[in-house]
Amino acid sequence: MRSILLRNYGGETAVQVAESPKPVAGPGQVLVRVRAAGINPLDWKIREGAVRDAFPLQLPAVLGIELAGVVEASGPDATRFQAGDRVMGPLGGLGAYADVVAVDEARLARTPERLGDVEAAALPVASLAAWQSLNFLGPIQPGARVLVHGAAGAVGGFAVQFARQAGAFVVGTAAGEDLAYVRGLGADQVVDYRSQRFEDLVADIDLVLAYVGGDVIDRSWQVLKPAGAMVGTSSPEILARTPPGRQGHWFVMQPDAALLERLAADVARGTLKAKVSEVVGFDDIPAAIERNRAGAHSGKAVADFTR
Ligand SMILES: NC(=O)c1ccc[n+]([C@@H]2O[C@H](COP(=O)([O-])OP(=O)(O)OC[C@H]3O[C@@H](n4cnc5c(N)ncnc54)[C@H](OP(=O)(O)O)[C@@H]3O)[C@@H](O)[C@H]2O)c1
Repeated sequence: MRSILLRNYGGETAVQVAESPKPVAGPGQVLVRVRAAGINPLDWKIREGAVRDAFPLQLPAVLGIELAGVVEASGPDATRFQAGDRVMGPLGGLGAYADVVAVDEARLARTPERLGDVEAAALPVASLAAWQSLNFLGPIQPGARVLVHGAAGAVGGFAVQFARQAGAFVVGTAAGEDLAYVRGLGADQVVDYRSQRFEDLVADIDLVLAYVGGDVIDRSWQVLKPAGAMVGTSSPEILARTPPGRQGHWFVMQPDAALLERLAADVARGTLKAKVSEVVGFDDIPAAIERNRAGAHSGKAVADFTR
């Protein structure tokens, strides 16, 4: 079967289309015939070796962390799904960029009938990460002031909507045409990160969602209330960038099939917007990973394996 393999840490060419043996479903696992897989920033961070301490890997490794597809077979003690069921989910590990993947069935949600596979593959990691990071310290309260950095990104787009639905006052940072997109998702205030300094325009924030790292984290402490908190997704660096006495948290998404099923149902009925910015074929996955690294897109790129 086809796979997208990382042989050694490096740049775009370190990731290549390869042939791999078809896996066998272990206890509690199902074999999924993958129809689509979401492209994530974690793909190029892994490729470059940037997160090798947080996510130690044995190379070569098949990349890809989320998928949508069809159940082909069930392993021992796997009873939730039948062959032919459409499923979607985060793997909680690597290996989604392959024609067939063995997945713990507990991590998978049923794909709603009205949702296509490409749309479904865009949801697991971004929607779960957005929901869980927003509510990391407890349910977000009406009237809370939330600053979302990277609001036009895959995670940020969902977080803006979830925060707004919870009754929060939402500020989003983005750039160019994405500013209108973020406003359309429900942000009360948008800040152009290329031409404006958010710290000049925003104050008294209860929660900063740092979906962007680096100095954005350092500059955000001054807009937080003294008791406010920052939750960072981009790397564990947020811990080292948290001054004494302040609340900074490194967040890692946890697979949650029940929550994913609920969020996918919201997308299917149109009450939650999900933006697929680019659809590529299997052979184009290495280039799409590199484009994700280079930035300048809103929403999510997805690989359509049926192309
Ligand atoms: N820890 C976890 O469990 C977890 C889970 C999911 C994601 N993540 C991480 O969370 C981050 C966001 O993921 P994603 O999938 O949403 O990525 P994404 O779709 O690539 O979105 C990132 C967004 O950030 C914007 N951006 C770049 N620099 C910015 C700045 N200085 N200020 C404001 N916005 C800026 C980009 O805009 P441009 O297009 O203008 O560059 C882009 O829209 C990534 O670092 C990812 O690895 C972590």
